[in-house]
Amino acid sequence: MASEILQAGLEIGSSHIKCVIGKVSGETIRVLGASSTRCKGIQDGNVVNIAKTIEAIREVVGMSEEQAKQNINYVNLGLHGLHIQSQNHIGAIGIVSQDREIGVHDIRQVLESARGSSHYTMGTQIIHTIPQEYIVDNQRGVVDPQGMVANHLKVNVHIVTALTSAIINLRRCVEKAGFGINHLILASLAASDVILLDEERDIGCILIDFGGRLCEVSYYSSGAIRGFAAFSNASDNITGDLAYFFKTSHEEAARIKEDFGFATPAHIPKEGKVTITKIDGRTREEVPIKAVSKAINDRLEDIFERVNAQIAKFVGRPEMIASCVVTGGGAKLPGIAEFFQERTGIITRLGLVRNCIGDDEVVNDPAYTAAIGLLKYDITKEAPTLGGKSGHRRKGLIEWLRKIF
Ligand SMILES: Nc1ncnc2c1ncn2[C@@H]1O[C@H](COP(=O)(O)OP(=O)(O)O)[C@@H](O)[C@H]1O
Ligand SMILES: [Mg+2]
Repeated sequence: MASEILQAGLEIGSSHIKCVIGKVSGETIRVLGASSTRCKGIQDGNVVNIAKTIEAIREVVGMSEEQAKQNINYVNLGLHGLHIQSQNHIGAIGIVSQDREIGVHDIRQVLESARGSSHYTMGTQIIHTIPQEYIVDNQRGVVDPQGMVANHLKVNVHIVTALTSAIINLRRCVEKAGFGINHLILASLAASDVILLDEERDIGCILIDFGGRLCEVSYYSSGAIRGFAAFSNASDNITGDLAYFFKTSHEEAARIKEDFGFATPAHIPKEGKVTITKIDGRTREEVPIKAVSKAINDRLEDIFERVNAQIAKFVGRPEMIASCVVTGGGAKLPGIAEFFQERTGIITRLGLVRNCIGDDEVVNDPAYTAAIGLLKYDITKEAPTLGGKSGHRRKGLIEWLRKIF
């Protein structure tokens, strides 16, 4: 049996911060501890208040450690944000070794060449270089060219960039909270790794991460990511609409959405009413669940328009897409997969983590998919030779050295 490795995923979401601690053994994840908190120190994935963010990070990691009965020193840090962009690029090199055998060094070089060819904006940095396919001389579709003989090596890659200042601020918060960072990872990408089936990724699929303040859409085809985009219209906007329409607090509106919300009026199983406490905290009003659902549906139509426009940008012919998967906390709204299926015309399912054992309330909660994906994400598969540092220095050792010097 493969040995189990203790890992932690820390997700700075668009509205919540989450931590999941677990053990990874081959393809299987065993969740040992998980925690989530709404954080006012972050907005759309960016830090807006350092002290509040540090406090929330300490809180979620501390609670997860307590449940897991294990302490962690390093985390895989998951990012969200409107500042994250992605593009497809090509790298190409000649193989100069005498025997023309492609070595690790050549793979490193061709990926560097692809990174060099990308024109990313000032103040941003590359966080992922994901090979889509290698082209060995003219042979396309090569997954691992190492050991093959050729004159030329090309690679098609997907490059993800993020705003450097946003990354520095997030790093600061995590480090000030007392934790080291193994790798920075696009949260949606980590989620895709544990949600999507290889076949879905091969044939062509859309992943919608429907969060609190952001909705992120990714496109996968021929086994790799081809596109990513984020926009700020998501489940908290539904809460905001309900608060506005029914003249109540955001807290009460969120309760109504989470306990009585349906994606479309058509999905309501039976007629019924819900009692809403108004903004004064005393006045109560009985409202038909259908009216709640109508308000939710209007916002979802808005969000669908954005998603659809994005799908059309990714793929000229959206009918080429075989499936769509919805995940994130917003995906807990009953009828959401049916709603997207009806509106996009693409077969849609709810995205939950596969090959994962642990507390049902975490493992079967779409809000936790990215954080669970983060703890398992293997950055070395992007570029085996460019894999990150080993990252398992013990905090104890660091503190001991600090005391000595
Ligand atoms: N049962 C539920 N039904 C509908 N929406 C829900 C439910 N539970 C949580 N949500 C919504 O999910 C959103 C948070 O999603 P999440 O993925 O956890 O956040 P983040 O964007 O920070 O990753 C909030 O708007 C919350 O109200
Ligand atoms: Mg989320």
